[in-house]
Amino acid sequence: MISRRSFLGAAAMLAGATFLPAIARARSIKTYRLDAAPARANLVGGGQPETEVWAYNGTVPGPALRFRRGERARIEVRNALAQETTVHWHGLRVPNAMDGVPHVTQPPIAPGSTFVYEFDLLDAGTFWYHPHAMSVEQIERGLAGAFVVEEENPPAVDRDLLWVLDDWRLARDAQISGDFVNFMDASHAGRIGNTVTLNGRIPEAFAVKANERLRLRLVNVANARLFALKFRGLAPSVIALDGHPVEPHAPDRGRVVLGPGMRADVILDVSEIAGGRAPVVDSYYAQRTYTLVDLVVEGSVRPAPLKERIRLSDNPLPTLDLKNAVRHAIEFGGGMMDPKLMRARRPDGGMDPEAMRAVRERMAAGRIWTVNGRAIMVLGHGHEPLFALRPGQTCILDLANETAWAHPIHLHGMVFRALERQGRAPTRIEWRDTELLHPGERASIAFVAAEPGDWMLHCHVLEHQETGMMGIIRVG
Ligand code: C2O
Ligand code: CU
Repeated sequence: MISRRSFLGAAAMLAGATFLPAIARARSIKTYRLDAAPARANLVGGGQPETEVWAYNGTVPGPALRFRRGERARIEVRNALAQETTVHWHGLRVPNAMDGVPHVTQPPIAPGSTFVYEFDLLDAGTFWYHPHAMSVEQIERGLAGAFVVEEENPPAVDRDLLWVLDDWRLARDAQISGDFVNFMDASHAGRIGNTVTLNGRIPEAFAVKANERLRLRLVNVANARLFALKFRGLAPSVIALDGHPVEPHAPDRGRVVLGPGMRADVILDVSEIAGGRAPVVDSYYAQRTYTLVDLVVEGSVRPAPLKERIRLSDNPLPTLDLKNAVRHAIEFGGGMMDPKLMRARRPDGGMDPEAMRAVRERMAAGRIWTVNGRAIMVLGHGHEPLFALRPGQTCILDLANETAWAHPIHLHGMVFRALERQGRAPTRIEWRDTELLHPGERASIAFVAAEPGDWMLHCHVLEHQETGMMGIIRVG
């Protein structure tokens, strides 16, 4: 039995927004309008109270914005919240002035006013949008949506589905608990909620057909929760990461791992499922493994699964010049159980009182995390960048996670190639916008500096970002 509220196909197709196609000189412009405003959402379902949320166009997640590569997007954002906002187009290569970082790339959008974003869509793929002002609260309250840019020739699938994954910290009355950026969350793993939703609902079952070919676009919009999804009994094939095509492959250990902000496109062929039911299990937190949703087979689309493999064609990313690259080291530090502090123990096992005092003072001031030794709190005009690059220059970043926590590190405006992880070259070419670093991990990434401007590099665990784990790379 599939209940009314568990059939998510309809939710995945919701458009919600008005769109008025228009013809520009060169590219065709497609317009959406997004209203950010308080709303109510039936997250929990089952006769439970509705949750007061902040939403784009009244829905959680916000409407899926769909475009085709080569189009020009025009998005009118109206702020009907009681506080300033902006919208960041996560993963999209946009002009700096369209990047949505308040005080850095634009003035914030004041309550009651409108800002129009407009940019060309250079890349196809699965992206997303969210506020970049008080994101710890605004994203947590529901402001986030998927942004899909279709290929000129999209691969043949039976259904192209969006699964927007989120989690919420709800009180018993189904309302969002208001303890944003408390010290406990901020100094540990971030705000991990108690309620996981798929496309804005606690899912129960998801109807599929035998031998159906699905393209699942997975987007993690949670503040802090990581997902590791296993499709029991099925053989998913990952065809894109963070929107960009990869050689199709089975995920490592069968699990699609998504840190906050990250996306994966997965081809799922609904082959033989024993009992007609395949659980999708999230086992990222080993102690708290749970079934996210059950795929339930009803009917059939063809007698046997499709065989042709899908390889998406690459996006037109700039070519790296690794020989002449400039190299920078970025070290992430701080947080609870700081390994650096632990290592600094004296021979008698005690802590160096000087070092302890310095850390205690920094943390007490809410500067919990550091990038190259500095907790960066306020971003505004005149802010010191981590370093500067010339447009077109290739840059290699050696990232080191010197903390006891996981950090999905996101770079704005530029797509990077993963060069090395733990000193080893990856087995396939991956272009991404977010690099997940587990405790103690190191990775090297390379990118070509985009157009002039200040571009953010930050942890996408929003409570970490808010308490120091961010920085700016200046191009110009
Ligand atoms: Cu998705 Cu700076 O963020
Ligand atoms: Cu982090």
